[in-house]
Amino acid sequence: MARLVLGVGGGIAAFKSAHLASLLRKRGHRVRVILTPAAAQFVTPLTFESLTGEPVYGDLWDPPRYGDDGEILGEAHIHLARWGEAALVAPATADLLGQLASGQARDGLTTFLLAFGGPVLLAPAMHHRMWAHPAVQESVARLQRFGYRFLGPVAGSLASGEEGWGRMLEAQELADLFEDHLHGRDLQGKRVLVTAGPTQEPFDAVRHISNPSSGKMGYALAQAAFGRGAQVVLISGPTCLPDPYGVEVHRVQRAEEMYQEVARRFPEVDILVAAAAVADHRPKEFHEGKIRKEDLLFQLELEPNPDILKEMGRRKKKGQILIGFAAEWGMDEGSARKKLLEKRLDMVVLNDVSGPGEGFRADTNRAFLVTAQGVQELPLLSKRELAHRIFDAAKDLPGGGRPGGGR
Ligand code: PMT
Repeated sequence: MARLVLGVGGGIAAFKSAHLASLLRKRGHRVRVILTPAAAQFVTPLTFESLTGEPVYGDLWDPPRYGDDGEILGEAHIHLARWGEAALVAPATADLLGQLASGQARDGLTTFLLAFGGPVLLAPAMHHRMWAHPAVQESVARLQRFGYRFLGPVAGSLASGEEGWGRMLEAQELADLFEDHLHGRDLQGKRVLVTAGPTQEPFDAVRHISNPSSGKMGYALAQAAFGRGAQVVLISGPTCLPDPYGVEVHRVQRAEEMYQEVARRFPEVDILVAAAAVADHRPKEFHEGKIRKEDLLFQLELEPNPDILKEMGRRKKKGQILIGFAAEWGMDEGSARKKLLEKRLDMVVLNDVSGPGEGFRADTNRAFLVTAQGVQELPLLSKRELAHRIFDAAKDLPGGGRPGGGR
């Protein structure tokens, strides 16, 4: 669990930051909040103090902080810069971005940001015309060059009643993304391709064969890879999930379409993670329109779908990493190992789809990570946490942490 600093700028979206602070604390982090004077007009320091159980910082002229033993810890903002491991500014206003981009330190928050050496994420929120203004866009470009990462804004309804590009991400999304970034930037510069969800194999206009995959596992992998700095493409079968933030998403229906999308991108990819539950077979015939109920009493003839992962294993070049899943009824390590060899994979994530709370649909999953080097047994974890454990383990694969290295 981490020591996090939440900077709050003066915008109406500051009310979301109260929820964000509370969410981060509930997830076990220590959260210290630093408000600009304008932010304190929207949400009081007492709100944050009550929600985090930690001191709240604000005025640049706050007296020095003292440790439990009476030791002087230094000026408030410098002390906070030493204390924090990562920082998120939400909302980051146009004024705040401008100050930071030009190295100004007029209040406690900007002073803290200049003094802070850890990773900083910025979640802007403002009127859409302010966001589009060249001065703001220049600040954004400059801050990106300095290494700051932006989360949003997104398009949506704004406080002014207008619709536009300037809305801050929701507290839940920011909490997830902030946590994803805590795992470091080990995938910076890597191109990661993820497959997720089921495929649907139709035999008439309204009927298909499929499976219960929700896409949660694959989407968690895509989001985790983005958090760790990768350029991520997600090829998704039909799901009800929203696109993960920062990820390029292509939605398909059939295995054949998923195969085409994966095959097209595979030569440029560093890591392929295949979490999709691809239908192994498809109906041989497709009937235009809807087959009448009385006519449905026929034997459905099937033919095999392409095995996407196996084909990519065949095409794999030196330095590319292939991670497949094995959905088994029970933890059948032998079957996972067979897949590892047959599909020329670097890792198989073996999961049990026989019970509730893991495998299909659940928010949690339990897995064995099977590689040529051995097996790592993981406990029941959230799918987000499991996604990070998979990428952690991928670092230990031959060539895993090193571009172009390996076999
Ligand atoms: O989506 P969720 O509800 O979160 O559920 C997650 C999950 C259970 C779907 C996921 O954790 C999982 O196990 N995904 C793989 C499901 C599967 O199809 O397993 P398999 O053992 O049949 O296939 C082995 C591997 O080959 C998989 O990586 C699969 O993507 C791939 N495959 C399979 C068939 C095929 N025609 N082409 C493939 O690429």
